[in-house]
Amino acid sequence: MQDLKKVDEIVKNYSMTKTPLIYILKDVQKEYGFLSETLLTRVAKMTNIPLSEIYGVATFYSLFTTEAKGKYIVRCCNNAPCHVKGSKAVLDKIKEYLGLEMNETTPDGLFTLEFTSCLGLCAVAPVMMINDEVYGNLTPEKAVSILKDYKMKGLANA
Ligand code: FES
Repeated sequence: MQDLKKVDEIVKNYSMTKTPLIYILKDVQKEYGFLSETLLTRVAKMTNIPLSEIYGVATFYSLFTTEAKGKYIVRCCNNAPCHVKGSKAVLDKIKEYLGLEMNETTPDGLFTLEFTSCLGLCAVAPVMMINDEVYGNLTPEKAVSILKDYKMKGLANA
């Protein structure tokens, strides 16, 4: 059973403003890691917004997830400018290092690998995003070095 105190606090913090639902869901996901049915139901109750509407928002935006994912979500851009600058080689190396295919999570729960659409940073392509941090001018070696740092950080905080 999830502790729902934090979701109540998040909604209450926004209750005095006309905050779009998207900000509430963003904060809830940041706190809990993903938007479970229990959490969405609680947001619906706290905001008096129909659950169907909340579920619609939570499943529409690619940055929201309704399933448990890794502590670090690695999002690789593979749109044309990144592709031209070598994103496939970077992605292949990331897959090899993590032992993952797209949309999979490592058994230790540290990493989930996903695609992202263009992040608007084509000038520094190829680009990947790990949670809220963006990394550009990637090479396969640089990407793995960054992931190794996250792995050490993740294991140290486990
Ligand atoms: S195409 Fe990758 S950041 Fe724009």
